[in-house]
Amino acid sequence: MANLFDVPQFIEDAPSLIADPDSNATSTQGAVVFDNVGKVFSGARGVPTAALANVTLNVAHGEVFGIIGRSGAGKSTLLRLVNGLEKPSSGAVRVNGVSVGKLDERGLVTLRRRIGMVFQHFNLLSAKTVRENIALPLKIAGVPKAAIDKKVDALLELVGLAAKRDAYPASLSGGQKQRVGIARALVTDPDILLCDEATSALDPETTQAILALLRDINRRLNLTVVLITHEMQVIREVCDTVAVIERGEVVETGPVWRVFGDPQHDATRALLRTLVHDLPADLADRVKPLRDIAQADARILLDVRFTGDDARDPDLAGLTSALSIDGSSVRFVHGGIDRIQGHAQGRLVVSAQVRASGGITVHAQIAALLERARGHANHVEVLGYV
Ligand SMILES: Nc1ncnc2c1ncn2[C@@H]1O[C@H](COP(=O)(O)OP(=O)(O)O)[C@@H](O)[C@H]1O
Ligand SMILES: [Mg+2]
Repeated sequence: MANLFDVPQFIEDAPSLIADPDSNATSTQGAVVFDNVGKVFSGARGVPTAALANVTLNVAHGEVFGIIGRSGAGKSTLLRLVNGLEKPSSGAVRVNGVSVGKLDERGLVTLRRRIGMVFQHFNLLSAKTVRENIALPLKIAGVPKAAIDKKVDALLELVGLAAKRDAYPASLSGGQKQRVGIARALVTDPDILLCDEATSALDPETTQAILALLRDINRRLNLTVVLITHEMQVIREVCDTVAVIERGEVVETGPVWRVFGDPQHDATRALLRTLVHDLPADLADRVKPLRDIAQADARILLDVRFTGDDARDPDLAGLTSALSIDGSSVRFVHGGIDRIQGHAQGRLVVSAQVRASGGITVHAQIAALLERARGHANHVEVLGYV
């Protein structure tokens, strides 16, 4: 990465940081590559626990890569493998083509200067000022004071904390503390930034500000960011790619708009439940299964989903006329459309009037209506009738 703060690089790459000769061309493409990684902990009373299994992932240079999964799924372990805080039990983790598991102590020290890490609880030293906290990694590396000062000032400016340079952590808000954490993580000019629940201790407004900062840093410094979060809005707002981890395995991965627009795995759907517009209780109570429909005239409830796969935005007029029989009313009951990475996607619950006519049964009418509606949305299902 180019040094954007105009401070010469003081940290020489150790000779052990040469590309792993075992790695093939495809697996060295990414900034971080997990190649069939497994991790087994010895665990309590010597009982081995498999924290990760068969993990294969490719984090591209310069992207923001999100990792989601339930608590205990293995997310933190996955991140700790990147900077060598844990070693894989099987497979390989490569950072810029270097197999982390094969590095000696000196190699690991060098690697960790290329990888910044931001924590949920900030991990600041309370007896040191903001600038001393940020300066610490450079001080340890033996960088001359004048260069440290210049660097720290540039970072304080970048994270918007210039006025707080001499303050102590206790006098800072949560958001300000995390800005210090981010500045400290960036002080060695890393190529990669790892964030483990970096916004989980912050209120929603502060979370927004920190996310905007991370996105800005990602773009301005062309920094690769790997972040873990349990907040789906965080993924939706800042990530390019997302991987879903369930019981130590990657169950789904891809561009955020694709995974969020059309989740394939139950674990993903469960995690996304906070974002999707689930059927409200009053409607869920009233809706009856379609097979019980006895009337020749009924109002059906449809679940219409847009996955964002199409180049064009949802065509509501087209959908409405497809669902309307002889001018019968079509009502928009619930739901909404969000835009992720330029793809309009979401779920609409729509009600439509159906009636038997001209020898065509209600069921045949519904089948025809579904067929037409599917030309205007990615998924259309009948939830029942009301
Ligand atoms: N150092 C360790 N020793 C033993 N087990 C561990 C250790 N670190 C993590 N684990 C276990 O590995 C699994 C994954 O943990 P973790 O990666 O922290 O999950 P997450 O970050 O998704 O909540 C859990 O079952 C956890 O108990
Ligand atoms: Mg964790």
